[in-house]
Amino acid sequence: SLLLFTVLFLLIADYLKTRRPSSFPPGPWALPFVGNIFTVDFNRAHESLTQLAETYGDVYSLRMGQTWMVVLNGFQMLKEALVTQGDSLADRPILPLQVDISHHLGVIISNGHLWKQQRRFALSTLKYFGVGKNSLEHAILDEFTYSAKDVTVHKGKRFNPHLIINKTVSNIICSLVFGHRFEYEDEWFIELIKRFDSALQIEASIWAQLYNSFPLLMRRLPGPHQTVQQFWSEVKDMIRSEIKEHKKDWNPAEPRDYIDCYLTEIQMRKGDAESTFDEENLVICVMDLFAAGSETTSTTLRWAFLYMAKYPEIQEKVQAEIDRVIGQSRQPSMMDRANLPYTDAVIHEIQRIGNIVPLSLPHSTNRDIQLGDYTVPKGVVIIPNLTSVLFDKREWETPYTFNPGHFLNEEGKFVKRAAFIPFSAGKRVCLGENLARMEIFLFFTSFMQQFTFSMPAGTKPVLDFRYGLTLAPAPYEISATLR
Ligand code: HEM
Repeated sequence: SLLLFTVLFLLIADYLKTRRPSSFPPGPWALPFVGNIFTVDFNRAHESLTQLAETYGDVYSLRMGQTWMVVLNGFQMLKEALVTQGDSLADRPILPLQVDISHHLGVIISNGHLWKQQRRFALSTLKYFGVGKNSLEHAILDEFTYSAKDVTVHKGKRFNPHLIINKTVSNIICSLVFGHRFEYEDEWFIELIKRFDSALQIEASIWAQLYNSFPLLMRRLPGPHQTVQQFWSEVKDMIRSEIKEHKKDWNPAEPRDYIDCYLTEIQMRKGDAESTFDEENLVICVMDLFAAGSETTSTTLRWAFLYMAKYPEIQEKVQAEIDRVIGQSRQPSMMDRANLPYTDAVIHEIQRIGNIVPLSLPHSTNRDIQLGDYTVPKGVVIIPNLTSVLFDKREWETPYTFNPGHFLNEEGKFVKRAAFIPFSAGKRVCLGENLARMEIFLFFTSFMQQFTFSMPAGTKPVLDFRYGLTLAPAPYEISATLR
């Protein structure tokens, strides 16, 4: 009976400690200790969380272990929260695994003054390399020629495009940050990509959840979470060696890349007590640009190939438009976008239905805020459910069907849709949005200009997904025939 009493006591204590505060958004009943861990199917978390909105409304709450989360759904609610009340939601929650890797530095998980300074610098530096002689457009078109060579090698026979596309896209970040690309056979480069892939895969797994729920214990236990630390420390060493090389022939008057610009910033702000620029922060910022900027764009392109193979009639229309506007004798340019409304609509629809960052990244409230009918206290984790917006029945005519018409008017002109927010919105909106859109447009039109994608004989396109850092297509093989 002592045991029974103790268990009862613990249950009551847990209930009192973790019960849903009154005025808090409603939600499914949470079990003692573990909360709603079993309410959510973690293999399809975005679908689970979208379904819960049908029962509990656009603002509801869940408890994961001891942590309360508020999930926001639907275009109107996300706009109200992320844009109208954006300042109150600008923070990231503090997650032990991410803190152990990034030490509150960089742009993705940092907060406050440091985040503002680093984000502003990253945005203006990306913009700086968007134009002029170091232009990104040039780097992207140049990279395409290497990528196309590696695709052509397969002579229309089936191949898995994953690694080629990862190399292609990673090289754009390399050009931007390191000032040069790598040969696709380069061992250092391949190692870098592999390290990133494995680390991000583990970070999206149950191990990361365990680490974040029980950090004191997990820091001591062996397991894949230790491998993540090891991978990142190797990646950091690789970045440090690039920085060292840069310092040898760095000329502040002629910055070649992000690292050069950053070194200048460190020097210019020496003695400024407010400065958050130093080499350790540079390493983490570079890591963040790779982590956020490679797999995302690569995933989008891999969805694009698959959708084109599934809908050959749409692919043909895209190719016909490209042939008419650009022809075969020159490469596409950003200037062409306005004249390619159908292609642009197809790209937007791929990004909408691909839904590659389905739950955005977590935010947290930095003051008490009012959301709909509820008061959400300071310090609560907020999940902006982008899936519920990109598939919002109130916003899209045929949310679950691939339909470029979502972005076209009756005359076939491209139309912007406010609920198109794959990059999220507000203060933390994707920092690489412009870069990503440029890459996706130029790579996609270049591939469509030169290749036709189809499923290998005897196979059908399967639009299954794999849950990792991004919602990615399950590994697939495809044929790319030269046009
Ligand atoms: C953050 C989507 C490509 C850099 C984000 C977020 C989303 C997103 C949903 C979270 C926003 C939030 O917290 O509400 C995407 C998609 C991409 C893409 C769909 C490609 C198709 C890129 C690229 C870069 C990049 C190419 C790199 C240069 C970042 C950074 C953040 C971020 C640094 C963190 C921003 C912050 O916390 O202030 N992205 N992204 N992303 N993205 Fe992207």
